[in-house]
Order: sequence, then structure tokens, then C-alpha cells
Amino acid sequence: MRQHTGIDKLINSFDQALRSLVPGATAAHRNNPASDTETRLAVSEARHVAGLMRVNHSGEVCAQALYHGQALTAKLPDVRREMEQAAIEEQDHLAWCEDRLRELDSHTSLLNPVWYGLSYGMGAIAGIAGDKYSLGFVAETERQVSLHLQQHISQLPEQDQRSRKILVQMNEDELQHRDTALNAGGVDLPAPVRITMTAISKLMTKTSYYI
Ligand SMILES: [Fe+2]
Ligand SMILES: [Fe+2]
Repeated sequence: MRQHTGIDKLINSFDQALRSLVPGATAAHRNNPASDTETRLAVSEARHVAGLMRVNHSGEVCAQALYHGQALTAKLPDVRREMEQAAIEEQDHLAWCEDRLRELDSHTSLLNPVWYGLSYGMGAIAGIAGDKYSLGFVAETERQVSLHLQQHISQLPEQDQRSRKILVQMNEDELQHRDTALNAGGVDLPAPVRITMTAISKLMTKTSYYI
């Protein structure tokens, strides 16, 4: 197989970024968990749910960027193999959140390129730091994403079974991803890194809800 040059990597990274950022460019591998469910919402409820789903979608954009950044620099192949299934499931999450936003007549966040860039950089740095930190970074990300998902599930209008089914399945997957990363040797991250990650994710959840 031909050795990948710097230009190849650059083009590949750009292609991955576009697939994550352009709505409709990523297809799900599994059926949407909400496909057999009906939901009717009042206008104000739909607006609130769209805000929540926009945040969740941005979180999934971050997950894509994290895995892509990590794949660029991680020692591999062990990390890549361990996290491959998780990366595929993240694509499902991205596509399902997009589906729901479309149904709600809403849009993905305009800030997604910013979140993608930040997460890509953080994933790449984690990859350079070594496999156990790289996996620790995945575990911490998944833990934080799961916390958000649980909060959002509790904030959904009672009758919004479509959003609920999607978020419940996503939460199940994220906890599985966290365990996979920990079982593969992920370690706890230093407190300043965890605090920075929490700060960035707070900023993301506060802004992507609106824009
Ligand atoms: Fe996800
Ligand atoms: Fe995940």
C-alpha cells in the first residue's frame, strides 16, 4: 500500500470535516430508533426540543472531530481498532440528530465549524500524549456527553417519544464507548484538562441551543 503523504492527510482531514459538518453528508448504519414512533408538539415545545437537539448534534460533531483528530496522531493500531465501532456509532448519532432537527423544521448550529476545530485539535493533542491519555480523553468526553443527554432526556416534553428514543439509544451507546475506552487502558485525565473540557462543553451547550 502506498505511504500517505502530508498532502494526502490534509485532503483526508478536510474530507472528514466536510462530511461531519454538511447536513445529510453522513448516513446512519442503524435504523433511527424513533422510526416507528409518532409525536405531536406545540410550536413552543418544538422550539425548545430543537434547541436541545441542536446542542446534541453539536456534541456529535465534536465526537466526530475528536475521533478524527485522534486517528491522525494516536500511536495506533490498538486505539484505532478499539474505538472503530464507537466512531461508526457516532455517525449514527450525528445522522439521527440531523433527522430530528429536520422534522422539527430547524437547523444545525452555525457554530459547528468552531466546535469541530477545537475538538479536532484536542483529539490530536490527546493522540500525541499517548494511547492511555487518548483513551482517557475519549472516556471523559463520553462521560460528559452522557450527562448532557440524561439532562436533556429529563427536559423533553412528556409526549416527545421521537426525541426520547433517539437520546436514550445515544446515551446507551456513549456509556458503552466510555467503558470500551476505559477497558482498553484509558486513564483519568489531570484535573485542569477535565475542567477545560467542561468549560468548553458548557460554552457549546449555552450557544448551540440558540445559534
Ligand atoms: Fe455520540
Ligand atoms: Fe460516543
